[in-house]
Amino acid sequence: MASAKLRWLYMALVVLGALCLYFSMHDLALFRGGPFIFKKESGRFLQLPAVDCRRDPPFLVLLVTSSHEQLSARTAIRKTWGRERVVRGKRTETVFLLGTTPSEAAALAVAQEGRRHRDIIQKDFLDVYLNLTLKTMMGIEWVHHFCPQAAFVMKTDSDMFVNVSYLVELLVRKNRTARFVTGFLKMHDLPIREKRSKWFVSRYEYPWNKYPPFCSGTAYVFSGDVASQVYNVSESVPFLKLEDVFVGLCLAKLRISLEELHSEQTFFPGGLTFSICRFRRIVACHHVQPQKMLIYWKALEDSAGEECPAK
Ligand SMILES: *[C@@H]1O[C@H](CO)[C@@H](O)[C@H](O)[C@H]1NC(C)=O
Ligand SMILES: *[C@@H]1O[C@H](CO)[C@@H](O)[C@H](O)[C@H]1NC(C)=O
Ligand SMILES: *[C@@H]1O[C@H](CO)[C@@H](O)[C@H](O)[C@H]1NC(C)=O
Ligand SMILES: *[C@@H]1O[C@H](CO)[C@@H](O)[C@H](O)[C@H]1NC(C)=O
Repeated sequence: MASAKLRWLYMALVVLGALCLYFSMHDLALFRGGPFIFKKESGRFLQLPAVDCRRDPPFLVLLVTSSHEQLSARTAIRKTWGRERVVRGKRTETVFLLGTTPSEAAALAVAQEGRRHRDIIQKDFLDVYLNLTLKTMMGIEWVHHFCPQAAFVMKTDSDMFVNVSYLVELLVRKNRTARFVTGFLKMHDLPIREKRSKWFVSRYEYPWNKYPPFCSGTAYVFSGDVASQVYNVSESVPFLKLEDVFVGLCLAKLRISLEELHSEQTFFPGGLTFSICRFRRIVACHHVQPQKMLIYWKALEDSAGEECPAK
């Protein structure tokens, strides 16, 4: 009698143990790609842009995240804000950041595009949303290795409108040269635990309840020295697929705080309705499709010299 009870207890324990094992493995499978440490030297460069920073130190380098299928966005940027080379007497350079694609045709097209424009930085990681941090860090690594002479760096996206001229004006006026980071500041963001969200982050990937201060990934700007410093500490902070939060973790470790560029809002991660006078007073605006980019740019150029009502 007693031994039968013990046998049952034993079997129950075995079943319970098996269930625990099953669920823990299930969890691991769910959260694959969880905490791993970013490796600075991983991957090799497939394309480098024709930018000679040693000979011609840029005042501002614009790093634009892009993907293979966004050719029309790159073309629009090359015809508008990416075309500018000298702004208010300062040199600017715009380069695109890409990974790799399984499509041979798309890979070939981007290789040709790079040879033609010589404005693409590409490394051999798979170009998917979850690898966005690798893409940003590739740009930062490029600045660290090939362009530490840049006074300022902007990281932005292909669906952004950037008024490079106004940005240069504000950076000159701000007169900061080191440990400077600005953009649309997010000082108290919390991890999104809602599984269906694009920004879902599990407790396994990020166990803490708060994010460090960071700038919206749509567009942020930092002094050139910050690139090397972020690159330097990037291996010693927990990896996160959200590139802007990851950079925020690096900045927290470096004790670099975020600052406003201007007393008025100039970064618009949520988009903004176009008007000539408004777009003369913004640095970056999200959700601008290639067609719109060309139209806005032309309207701004055609109206140059016309007055806007003083505020
Ligand atoms: C990111 O890129 C690496 C290197 O190509 C690849 O092994 C990995 O699967 C990619 N990540 C995702 C989520 O696809
Ligand atoms: C810029 O800052 C430096 C010190 O950091 C100061 O010497 C210089 O006068 C400032 N220039 C302007 C134009 O404010
Ligand atoms: C990188 O880190 C090392 C050690 O922590 C330090 O000696 C070096 O000065 C750092 N380099 C930069 C560019 O911050
Ligand atoms: C950019 O800003 C400057 C300065 O405010 C303004 O004069 C110009 O029209 C704007 N240009 C474009 C193309 O956004």
